Amino acid sequence: MVEKIAIIGSGVMGSGLAQAFAVGGYSVSLNDVSEQSLRKAKKMILDNLALHVEQEDISEKQKQHALASITYIANLETAVCDADFIVEAIPEVIELKWALFQQLNGLIKPEAIVASNTSTFPISRLIEKAPFAERMIIAHFFNPAHLVPLVEIVRHQQTKDEVVQKTLELLYHIGKEPIVLKKDVTGFIANRLQTALMREAFHLLNEGVASAEDIDKAITAGPGFRWAFSGPLEIADFGGLDTWQRVFDNVAPELAESKEAPVIIRERVKQNKLGTKSGEGIFSYEEATVIRKLRERDRQFIQLWKVKRENKSRKRS
Ligand SMILES: NC(=O)c1ccc[n+]([C@@H]2O[C@H](COP(=O)([O-])OP(=O)(O)OC[C@H]3O[C@@H](n4cnc5c(N)ncnc54)[C@H](O)[C@@H]3O)[C@@H](O)[C@H]2O)c1
Repeated sequence: MVEKIAIIGSGVMGSGLAQAFAVGGYSVSLNDVSEQSLRKAKKMILDNLALHVEQEDISEKQKQHALASITYIANLETAVCDADFIVEAIPEVIELKWALFQQLNGLIKPEAIVASNTSTFPISRLIEKAPFAERMIIAHFFNPAHLVPLVEIVRHQQTKDEVVQKTLELLYHIGKEPIVLKKDVTGFIANRLQTALMREAFHLLNEGVASAEDIDKAITAGPGFRWAFSGPLEIADFGGLDTWQRVFDNVAPELAESKEAPVIIRERVKQNKLGTKSGEGIFSYEEATVIRKLRERDRQFIQLWKVKRENKSRKRS
């Protein structure tokens, strides 16, 4: 039975993961090589949980319980030695991940599951230098990890069935909506779909078809509005496959086909216009606006999360 969780890497993803598991009732050790990152994570989790209380998603008592369930530990051995489920959320550099797997060997319990939150590496690559392949799995969460329900699961043929089973049970227990891929493909499912959409969005912007604001609105007020509840394949069925056949035949030949990052992205990156982190990307940002926008985004996600959770419990009853 999974009781103790260890999260390695307390950055953007690791902090959200620690929060998600703690709110789900687990005891969590959050580890990082950087003390500063651990301090930042602690503050982030505190602010996030306060927002959940403000939005009446959890009670003050649940918040206090979650806060007390997380231990911030700079020593790797102490963080993982009694963990049943370990999630690595360190930077997307294969050598770093391999080095960590080597370090974990001998430190972790013989039956502990090791999940990687990689967003790009196939599991076949990860296990090349992992001494515990049969207990390894990819569990790809989405940012903000404490709010987005999807987790993409990728197993290797060496991964034991019970590892997949236990991982799924754990994820359901903390309210996630996992999917298990049947093939080990680059970008998994969600990022492939997202990249296809982004390629077209940047193409439309480059062609001057509409303003950046309106291209975004075409999604948030349009397809995005229904995507939280209907996937593209079901949408095709409801629209009629005959209609979608005509849409594809007319529109597909006009779509962007580039095999590399869009020109607009390349140009902005060259000018160090990286988005919110540098104050300018497609839009311009002031630091205070970014924080306000993130809070507002999370407030809306919490409301959506509550609607989804209520739908799920209505379906069950
Ligand atoms: N940011 C996203 O939107 C996102 C979404 C899904 C998956 N991911 C994946 O999650 C992983 C982490 O991404 P992130 O955005 O949280 O990165 P991040 O840079 O915000 O955080 C990584 C943290 O790992 C720490 N770290 C580095 N080496 C370490 C080690 N050996 N032991 C312990 N801690 C170590 C760093 O100090 C840092 O705090 C990556 O594999 C990334 O591809 C990211």
